Amino acid sequence: MANVVVIGAQWGDEGKGKVVDIYTEFADNVVRYQGGNNAGHTLVVGDEKVILHLIPSGILHEGKRCIIGNGVVLDPEVFIMEITKLKANGYLKDDSMLRLSESLHIIMPYHKRIDIAREAKSGAKKIGTTGRGIGPAYEDKIGRRGIRLMDLLDEKSFSRKVKEILDEKNLILTQFLNDKPFTFEEIYEEYMGYAETLRKYAADTSLLLHKEIRAGKSLLFEGAQGTLLDVDHGSYPYVTSSSTCSGGACTGSGVSPREIHEVIGIAKAYATRVGSGPFPTELEDETGEALRQAGREFGSTTGRPRRCGWYDALVARYAVRVNGLSGIAITKLDVLSGLETVKVCTGYSYNGQVLDEVPASLEVIEQCRPIYQEFPGWTEDITGAKSLAELPENAQNYIKRIEELSGAPVVLVSVGPRRSETIVLRNPFEA
Ligand code: IMP
Repeated sequence: MANVVVIGAQWGDEGKGKVVDIYTEFADNVVRYQGGNNAGHTLVVGDEKVILHLIPSGILHEGKRCIIGNGVVLDPEVFIMEITKLKANGYLKDDSMLRLSESLHIIMPYHKRIDIAREAKSGAKKIGTTGRGIGPAYEDKIGRRGIRLMDLLDEKSFSRKVKEILDEKNLILTQFLNDKPFTFEEIYEEYMGYAETLRKYAADTSLLLHKEIRAGKSLLFEGAQGTLLDVDHGSYPYVTSSSTCSGGACTGSGVSPREIHEVIGIAKAYATRVGSGPFPTELEDETGEALRQAGREFGSTTGRPRRCGWYDALVARYAVRVNGLSGIAITKLDVLSGLETVKVCTGYSYNGQVLDEVPASLEVIEQCRPIYQEFPGWTEDITGAKSLAELPENAQNYIKRIEELSGAPVVLVSVGPRRSETIVLRNPFEA
């Protein structure tokens, strides 16, 4: 049985939710290993549209165990809201199908307030965070002053740790960020209220996954955000605070790299980005607006309009390299239908030179101008295509060329929002 990592190959929002949903059928366990409720998948649950920010959408599939690994930062209020909604709609009847790593870090109220206040203070230099306290929670994790789920479940340890850290947080909030302080009592009361609900989901998830592997069960690692938002490999500092690349699947779950068989990168047939930071192929014109409208490019966590642009083959090649992609899944090809011309960025022009790799320096990338290869578009409705051969010739040529330029085989092409509107070329679980 294969263990497969699915990651975003661009700046997040590549349509991972649909691909993960398709692959879930072949997996016994779905694992989240980084990020927190800055991510989001919109799903239809019963009659309701539900956005799951933390719990993998695998929870909607009978018999699939969902794991939230040690690399995730968890907001207990959001987690409890999600399980309450799921249960109200008849899902999660068996609580043992959802497990939280007892080592994951808890997002505290001061993390959220600091995130929002720091962004407000940063003015034009702001990162454009989701305001969910993600960065400040990871800062405390790396700074060795974070509060883990196991601390929250131990009243004495929780009280001691909150007391130890609160003076520092209140000083930052009041003296530096011009915001309100917290009292110990308000945090204690709120979080002790969450502890009992969280207790029944807590486990040593690394051990659990190890046992599943030994029993011949398969794992699907569901990455959140995307390669260019990785804290090490992304366009720092305009990144999220976790390891979004494939390596994060191991550190964020306690599963060895030797147990990973396939890494699939999801890339939109064009590109989008939310928040600040460099985006060389961004279109600030009517074509960009047309992509935004046709692709419904508005954030599912914050509702912000996403910045839109052309497919960047340098970014794709970079994602293939740093993640070791064994395949690329191209999503939203149908959004390009009707455009007279479609473009792919094949290089950057910088200071009279042509660059064929993404430069590491933010200052350099900010001055890069994209060099494009142009393709004639197609007008046909492609949502019914079941194979590449059923796509218009121009669309086939487009896919072939982005495969060549990106350097990894295309294993799936999504041609519409529905599950059925998908061309599967190779199933990584059957490798
Ligand atoms: P944070 O993760 O809230 O700290 O935000 C840092 C950066 O990552 C910002 O540019 C966000 O817009 C971006 N970001 C965080 N989560 C997502 C996501 O799920 N999709 C796309 N961008 C995201």
